[in-house]
Order: sequence, then structure tokens, then C-alpha cells
Amino acid sequence: MTKEVQKKEPVPNSITKLISGISAPANELRRLMAVVAPTGSSALILGPTGSGKELVAQGIHSASGRKGPLISVNCAAIPTELLESELFGHEKGAFTGADKVRAGRFEQSSGGTLFLDEIGDMPLSLQSKLLRALENKTIQRVGGDKEIKIDLRLICATHQNIEKYIDEGKFRADLYFRINVFPIIVPSLVERIVDLPVIVEFMLNQLKGEGENVPKFDQSAFQELGRYNWPGNIRELRNVVERAAVLFGDQEITGKNVQENLLRLKVPDPQVEKDEIWEATSQLSFENNDEEQNDTNPPLPHPSHYMDWFLYFDNIDIRRHLIEVEEVLIKAAIEKNNGHITKASECLRLNRTTLIEKMKKLSIN
Ligand SMILES: Nc1ncnc2c1ncn2[C@@H]1O[C@H](COP(=O)(O)OP(=O)(O)OP(=O)(O)O)[C@@H](O)[C@H]1O
Ligand SMILES: [Mg+2]
Repeated sequence: MTKEVQKKEPVPNSITKLISGISAPANELRRLMAVVAPTGSSALILGPTGSGKELVAQGIHSASGRKGPLISVNCAAIPTELLESELFGHEKGAFTGADKVRAGRFEQSSGGTLFLDEIGDMPLSLQSKLLRALENKTIQRVGGDKEIKIDLRLICATHQNIEKYIDEGKFRADLYFRINVFPIIVPSLVERIVDLPVIVEFMLNQLKGEGENVPKFDQSAFQELGRYNWPGNIRELRNVVERAAVLFGDQEITGKNVQENLLRLKVPDPQVEKDEIWEATSQLSFENNDEEQNDTNPPLPHPSHYMDWFLYFDNIDIRRHLIEVEEVLIKAAIEKNNGHITKASECLRLNRTTLIEKMKKLSIN
């Protein structure tokens, strides 16, 4: 790292307001942003999905002092055949339907910042045109031959492993070196898990500002949120916080609520729960007439209910959910049998050794 980067820069307010967190990785992120913002260097923002890459791009632009706008293009979302004219614009008559001249994103971001999101997904054919534009600081509109000067700061982001793409021939190495002048790696939420309460507070304040009733998370709730592994990072946390506001209004949320209602996607309405169980058991009477089903088997929530959950909530971490179900059932069986493992294993129809193995794996005493 250069001397300039090591120098302690004061972090501008525009960055502090945007990127919340008190952890060392959050401080480091803000410091890097403050260092790179006033320079004209290209920055490449890397990091897992939902970790806040776009927010980092916004922060760098707003602290850059550049007067022009921040123009964002999601390279993965625009079909290849449209992306070229989206970026470089087109002349009248360049292709069917091009009935007027149109300035592209490069020209629009003149004096400001061009943010190329998901650059890893840019088609190879366009990568060489992009490299040429960056090297010459000029572009040509599609269907034109005039060189148009561009004055912009480039920020790129991707959650892809570009170096692997280079090895596979999907990304040009020379373009990578050109855009990767200043790499910024955004940490995952788990790497900065001590920030979770601050980020939740930040999100609740935002929701409050929008006139929503917001809940209060108690200490056990934060503990529970801190134990989760957050594959979707801060975006997933935002979904959970928004779900909490919808389900709990201005009530207090406990660790149990987090486990049962927010991370396990179960609606916390006693009436709804009663209805669900009733419906599940009523279905069992005619759907589950296989040989396992007899008087000694009490009714269970019916698997078809997961279908309804999906329609409402869209996704479920199936492995985690099944492990949690297993954990609850094992704990219940042990409690019911006053800690007698052999009896508990009989109730669960497991071998005693299998149960002990599972208990070890799930850290159940
Ligand atoms: N430090 C933070 N404090 C509060 N909210 C944040 C923070 N970082 C990110 N967020 C929020 O998390 C969500 C996801 O952020 P963002 O879209 O920037 O992630 P991303 O890395 O670009 O995701 P993807 O890889 O899916 O494009 C946004 O709603 C953003 O406002
Ligand atoms: Mg993004």
C-alpha cells in the first residue's frame, strides 16, 4: 500500500452518514473511501452480494467533490445488444428505431462519476471498446465516427471473481488492470457482526423517518441476530428489519421472536397459528393414510404448509431450517424424558448413539 493510503485522512460527513458501523472493517472501509474519493482514480469495489457495494460507490461520488451526476449502469441487467448504445449513445439512423441522436451514459456522466455495476458480466465484445474509451478518454457513439471527449471518474463493482474470469477467458486482463487502480473490498456482514446493532438502529430510524411504526429489539434479540450467518449480508438484514416492522409494529422483539418469526418466517399471530395447525391436522386425516400413520402417531404440521410459506415469503434456507427443526425436536424429547437419553431416542425413533451424535453436532447438553 502506498504512503498516501497509509496517511490518516479525516472521513467526510457524506461518507460517515452513509456507511454505518463501529467495527474495525467498517472504519477501514470509510478510510479507504475517504482516501480514494478526491482522486480521479478508478475504483473497483469487490465484495459479496448485498454487502453495500453500491452504497460505497455513492459515498465515493458524494465525497469526490465532482459537480456532475453519478450515473449507474447495471451491466448484468442490460441485454448485450443494447448495452453498447446505452453506454456510448448512438447517432440518428445508427440502427432500426434510432430516430434521434442519443447521448450514452458516458456522456451523461461527464463531470461526474460513471458507476459500472456488475462489470464482471460485461460481454467480451464490449470490454475492448470500454478499454479503448478509458485509455483515450474519448468515445464514439454507435453509428458515428466523431471522437467525443469524456471527463469522468469511473467506479466499477462486481461480486464475481474477476481473476477467475480472466483465467477462463471471460474477462480481459488489460481491462482489469485499467479498472483496478484502487480496489476496495467491502466486508461481509459476518466479518463486521459487531456492527449489527448499529446498522439495525440505522435502518429502524430510516423506517421511522418514513412514518412507519418500528419495533424495539431487546438484548436477546440482538444475540440471536448475531448468531445467524447472513448469506445475503446487509440486504438480508434489511429484509429482516422490514419484516419485523410489518409483523411486530411498535412491540418489543425477543430472541425467541427472532428465531421463530423473523429468521424462520413464521407469522406471529396466535389465531393464524391455530388455524394452521387445525388445517394441517385436518389434512392429515385424509392425506396421510400411509402405514406410518396410526393412533400412536400424533398429528404433525403438514409439509404442504411450506408451500404456502413460499408463496408468501419467497425463500427459505432449507438446510438451516431442517437443522433447526431437528434441534427443537431433540431438545423437546430430552426435556420430556427428564434428560433420559435412551427414552428420548426411543421417542424420536433414533438409535441412542445416533441421537448422541446429533446432540454433539448441535451442541445440545
Ligand atoms: N453500512 C450500511 N448501513 C446501512 N445500510 C446499508 C449499509 N451497507 C449497505 N446497506 C443497505 O444494504 C442494502 C444492500 O446494499 P447494496 O445494494 O449497496 O449492496 P451490493 O453489495 O451492491 O449488493 P449486490 O451485490 O447484490 O449488488 C441496501 O439497502 C443498502 O442501503
Ligand atoms: Mg449492487
